Amino acid sequence: MTKTPEDLRSARWFAPDDLRSMGHRSRAMQMGLDDADWEGKPVIAIINTWSDLSPCHHHLRDRAEFVKKGVLQAGGMPVEMPVHSFSEQFLKPTSMLYRNMGALEVEETLRAHPIDGAVLLGGCDKSTPALVMGAVSAGLPFIFMPAGAMLRGNYAGQKLGSGTDVWKYWDERRAGTIGKEEWMGVQGGIARSYGTCMTMGTASTMMSIADGWGLTLPGASSIPAPDAGHKRMAAACGRRIVDMVWEDLTPDKIMTDASTRNAVTVAMATGCSTNAIIHLIAMARRAGVDLGLEDLDEIGRTTPVIANIRPSGKEYLMEDFFYAGGLPALMQELGDKLDLSVMTVSGKSLGETIEGAQNYNTDVIRPLTNPVYHEGSLAVLRGNLAPDGAVIKPAAMDPKFQTHRGPAIVADSYAEMKEIINDEDYPMTLNHVLVLRNAGPQGGPGMPEWGMIPMPKALLKQGHRDMVRLSDARMSGTSYGACILHVAPEAFVGGPLALIETGDIIELDIPNRRLDVQLSDEELATRRANWTAPPPRYERGYGKMFSQHVEQADKGCDFDFLRTDFGAAVSEPEI
Ligand code: FES
Ligand code: MG
Repeated sequence: MTKTPEDLRSARWFAPDDLRSMGHRSRAMQMGLDDADWEGKPVIAIINTWSDLSPCHHHLRDRAEFVKKGVLQAGGMPVEMPVHSFSEQFLKPTSMLYRNMGALEVEETLRAHPIDGAVLLGGCDKSTPALVMGAVSAGLPFIFMPAGAMLRGNYAGQKLGSGTDVWKYWDERRAGTIGKEEWMGVQGGIARSYGTCMTMGTASTMMSIADGWGLTLPGASSIPAPDAGHKRMAAACGRRIVDMVWEDLTPDKIMTDASTRNAVTVAMATGCSTNAIIHLIAMARRAGVDLGLEDLDEIGRTTPVIANIRPSGKEYLMEDFFYAGGLPALMQELGDKLDLSVMTVSGKSLGETIEGAQNYNTDVIRPLTNPVYHEGSLAVLRGNLAPDGAVIKPAAMDPKFQTHRGPAIVADSYAEMKEIINDEDYPMTLNHVLVLRNAGPQGGPGMPEWGMIPMPKALLKQGHRDMVRLSDARMSGTSYGACILHVAPEAFVGGPLALIETGDIIELDIPNRRLDVQLSDEELATRRANWTAPPPRYERGYGKMFSQHVEQADKGCDFDFLRTDFGAAVSEPEI
């Protein structure tokens, strides 16, 4: 114990014998609370991203009750605080537009209230980074409690994977090989319970990353949302956070250079979503760790994908991963690729937390000697088309496109691209490269998941299911294909992507990490001189703030003013 009751942050609100504190106490009493609830007790915020339009988080109101139980068991005072809900499916134009807003809300919610520690409930895509970014910036002890993945999908005896199988069946429907009835069957069977997408999409990736970083209780990220163990884990988080407050186990003691490398290693080994790159950078930078694309590529080159989960793996889903031993088993297999000495929220080192973890199915969690893919799932490309980098997922694409050279077909908007891919008479071969621009952080706006440009109808009918696609957008973590993403700087702010024209030759070379357009510097300069910036996307509201402050993909798309090194640190509020 390093903290005494007098040291508690919340005691500044509740303890003094003065006018303001009397007000705080009387208002707490208004809610039926009493001295016995707060005196000498850590106040624990349960930051909840539940909403009626967030299907992945639909169980979190119930889970908050289990966290409360745990907090009470350990002698704390639980308070549930709702924040922005992050519904990947329903938020438009894209949930990414709101990640930083959510992070800001979490940070200010924690700072402005009498809170000593927090349990963060979330898991749907952007919610994990938003919660972690906000809580790290607030600097209070916290535990991330993952929402957990939903059950496996099922249709006509076929296992269905979130997202991944939707795209696959949609391609078949457009190719005319399945009809409306099958399509409706998939609709009814693909999401069978609350919880996040159960492929290794962005949600499962981000929850695993938090676990690998030491920000969850061990193995929490792999428990399926409907499993009773998920409720018990929620209660365990409630108990543990109270002790963390007394121990003053703040996030800076957990999110270090070494644990960040662990998190990246885990990401690569799970066959992570491309979105993880942006969120990893953003979360690390909030913790004061200077993580960049080069670090990710370096760790990626030496970390094989060993989680055989779709879309990088062929067969399995998150439920199978849990039965095989989940993340602790995967980390055991990674062995000395991880720094096991780092501290975790459990109060134990990572090594201690995974001691004895067993791999029950070596086809689901592969040993390093038999990986799903020989390198990490992601590769970072650079070249005259992406001076600040671009990202591709070689683990989930047709390997014949690893090196490719072909003419561009350029669209300035998603609507324009849609027309091209649906036009069966558009002159196009498998050799072409589909290029979508103005879909980046500013141009999208919010960098929507348009990067897996649907296969052109004509090529689908010829039997093709993959081709090279290129954009400044992101793609869903459940997506797959030879899609070059996150091109930086984006076209909207005048990156070289803004300058290319239909017919220009694009060169992709994944082994050498290159992405170029065959244009001379002189030609690019001439085109740049003729380029005019598009009008701003927003003239008022949150969108205006977003466009003024969002950074490019290679920097994690955080707001500049939320960076840890921006300006003087925010001091504690006056009471
Ligand atoms: Fe919530 Fe996929 S939609 S995790
Ligand atoms: Mg997603």
